[in-house]
Amino acid sequence: MNDKSQAPAIELIGIDKKFGAVHANKNINLTVAKGSIHGIIGENGAGKSTLMSILYGFYQADQGTIRIAGEVTTIKDSQAAIAAGIGMVHQHFMLVENFTVLENLMLGAEGGALLAKGTDAARAALKKLEEDYELEVDPDAVVEELPVGLQQRVEILKAMYRGAEILILDEPTGVLTPAEADHLFKILGVLRDQGKTVLLITHKLREIMAITDTVSVMRRGEMVATRKTAETTVEELAELMVGRRVLLQVDKGAANPGEIYLSVRNLTVKDGRGVTMVDNVSFDVRAGEIVGIAGVAGNGQSELLEAITGIRKPTSGEIFICGEPVAGYDPAKLRSIGLAHIPEDRHHMGLVLSFEESQNSILGYHRDEQYGKGPFLSPDLVRQAAAVEIEKYDIRPPNPRLKTANFSGGNQQKIVVAREIERDPKLLIVGQPTRGVDIGAIEFIHKRIVETRDAGKAVLLVSVELDEIRSLSDRILVMFAGKVVGEKTPDTGEQTLGLMMAGIAA
Ligand SMILES: Nc1ncnc2c1ncn2[C@@H]1O[C@H](COP(=O)(O)OP(=O)(O)O)[C@@H](O)[C@H]1O
Ligand SMILES: [Mg+2]
Repeated sequence: MNDKSQAPAIELIGIDKKFGAVHANKNINLTVAKGSIHGIIGENGAGKSTLMSILYGFYQADQGTIRIAGEVTTIKDSQAAIAAGIGMVHQHFMLVENFTVLENLMLGAEGGALLAKGTDAARAALKKLEEDYELEVDPDAVVEELPVGLQQRVEILKAMYRGAEILILDEPTGVLTPAEADHLFKILGVLRDQGKTVLLITHKLREIMAITDTVSVMRRGEMVATRKTAETTVEELAELMVGRRVLLQVDKGAANPGEIYLSVRNLTVKDGRGVTMVDNVSFDVRAGEIVGIAGVAGNGQSELLEAITGIRKPTSGEIFICGEPVAGYDPAKLRSIGLAHIPEDRHHMGLVLSFEESQNSILGYHRDEQYGKGPFLSPDLVRQAAAVEIEKYDIRPPNPRLKTANFSGGNQQKIVVAREIERDPKLLIVGQPTRGVDIGAIEFIHKRIVETRDAGKAVLLVSVELDEIRSLSDRILVMFAGKVVGEKTPDTGEQTLGLMMAGIAA
């Protein structure tokens, strides 16, 4: 190309990457126009992060060419990416927490070792960046004291400070409130208007529709389509992502609440450091209803679930299951009286990845008589029972002998969901049921949760996905800073809930 200023910001040509047997990127071609917001959407495991990691120099492609602004560019590490004008906002921020914003900005940038000397110049540069991109943040604030949304802004500033012309954001809104996400989108709009190029990776269709100019869809390692955002629909994108039509809405009738199965009274829970995470919380969950707890991650939801499921001892207060005080019970005892638990972190608590599928399908229930007499399990009986769940929950591949680590995230989650729901509990406690799960499996898991309610069970759901809370819950409790700050109906607007989640309005 003769006129470099007309060249696309990024051209990926025939990018291919394998991790052993996993073909993460298959002959990917992608052109990103300068001065645009280009979204990349795809289910978990589609290969989005791998592709971005190649562009940022974390991984080397096995084959293929990268052109930046028309020039063939080799990106052998992140230093080379920065030199090529590429900045990245990571899923987990790479900031030094006990440094100030200004110190973080200077760190690793040119002359970073001479912190003191460069400070005035850096301060001036920061001020200019803030003005240009509407990125206000106190330069002297210590990073760990800033809310997550502001820490993310520091990451963006850092990239801009290093002269980024291209900014990559990989799932940037997972940790944000809706209001923080909206603010981020506003900033991205300003960056684009200033001629920067933004690559936004997400699995959220709403975000793609709201902010991008162009969207590319990845599925199983392939780039399957690119569309002008204005010319596509949520339905078309969802279908491209999974390769078939999906229901985005949860079909459910009205709740039919019965007696109280779970009662939490003045519950206070401290974390390992002695910090109060759940602060005098009271609520009930009745048979035949789903109560959802909305909140930004880290506002006490995890500790609340841990206390109810016997993993963490409450400091004070009471928990009743079907009228029985259970605050001191261990998880096994709780299971025996009708509590089932789909834990937030399936890798840590829900599954032993090195076990075969059938062993995980009875984890926690291995003393049940149906699996053999006395302390001895019968592997055949266990596999027979597992095969029934595999069939009913469409777990793939349908092989109870396969090591659990070899199932995809969505299928691993189905193993846990099947195990817990099939115990026919009275009370089902569900934490982040679809985290890291693809759209097809999300739909399936949501249906099973609603069926559990309709079978007369009480369901307590915790999720940081507000859409999930709104579409599944019959009543919504909002948690902020360890307290339940309000109760709302599921038709409450996202904005209202978002403000409550940010602790702004009750
Ligand atoms: N470092 C790695 N080693 C082995 N497999 C990997 C590695 N990184 C990613 N994968 C695999 O590559 C595939 C694509 O992953 P990823 O790019 O993270 O997808 P996405 O970001 O779209 O969720 C997945 O099957 C994942 O397990
Ligand atoms: Mg990813």
